[in-house]
Amino acid sequence: MTDRYAVIGNPIAHSKSPEIQAAFARQTGQDMSYERLQAPLAGFAATAMRFAREGGRGANVTVPFKLEAFALAQARSARAERAGASNTLAWRGTHWFGDNTDGVGLVRDLTVNVGAALAGRDLLVLGAGGAARGILGPLLAAGPRSLVIGNRTAARAEELARLFAAEGPIAARTFGDLGGRRFDLVIDATSANLTTAGDGDAAALLPWPETIFAPGALAYDLKYAALPTAFLQWARRHGADRAVDGLGMLIEQAAESFLLWRGVRPDTAPAFALFR
Ligand code: ATR
Repeated sequence: MTDRYAVIGNPIAHSKSPEIQAAFARQTGQDMSYERLQAPLAGFAATAMRFAREGGRGANVTVPFKLEAFALAQARSARAERAGASNTLAWRGTHWFGDNTDGVGLVRDLTVNVGAALAGRDLLVLGAGGAARGILGPLLAAGPRSLVIGNRTAARAEELARLFAAEGPIAARTFGDLGGRRFDLVIDATSANLTTAGDGDAAALLPWPETIFAPGALAYDLKYAALPTAFLQWARRHGADRAVDGLGMLIEQAAESFLLWRGVRPDTAPAFALFR
């Protein structure tokens, strides 16, 4: 019998996960189906439990339900505990197991696909919300020389820095305190929907200093869009050597979920070919 999987979110119509997972299933010869499930905003747990009763074996979870997925899971991986959120659920016969593959997916995209070195480098993560928290553990595990969390609100950055202090050289700054420091990798993990001023200078519209990029720096936006994001356009204008969007993270986190569910690591190249 074909095993059922799904991605649960709201909205969900534009999710690329079904095409990505279908490519993995074809490539590895796994007998599985993968559908989109839109849960009502107040009905995530009910939707996930109904899916399990109807034979669902696993699910990806996206906006705005990652915290609820974490709460619903009666057993969790260590990396989900550190992220405080789950983007991946696996049905364990009687309950959901909660994992989080976002951070490892990002680090795999950076190190394997983009070819960026993290060990010994200076990293800046912009933002201190759920998306930032989800990537800090895997980034610190890669052995950077320093990792600064830059955030509009100091208290949230400080809270994250405390939470991860035992895992590596992490510090909190407000955007205003970043002046003078330069970083090898700058990751936009804010939810800010920034716009650039067309071909003009967008610097005034972006809340962090223009001087954050070291020579050869990489700018990475966790978001993915058909056109370069405002952050990536700005980064190219202010000294970033390369600017990369979150498509690779999306594909690699999906591959890590597939590995958890099926015990096989898919080759991600065919999934990249679908979108680029
Ligand atoms: P997510 O789960 O996407 O991370 P979140 O937990 O609400 O969402 O966190 C949003 C992050 O984006 C926060 O770091 C927020 O900054 P504050 O902590 O100061 O609120 C950041 N953010 C959102 N809009 C922003 C903006 N216009 N400028 C700068 N930072 C912004």
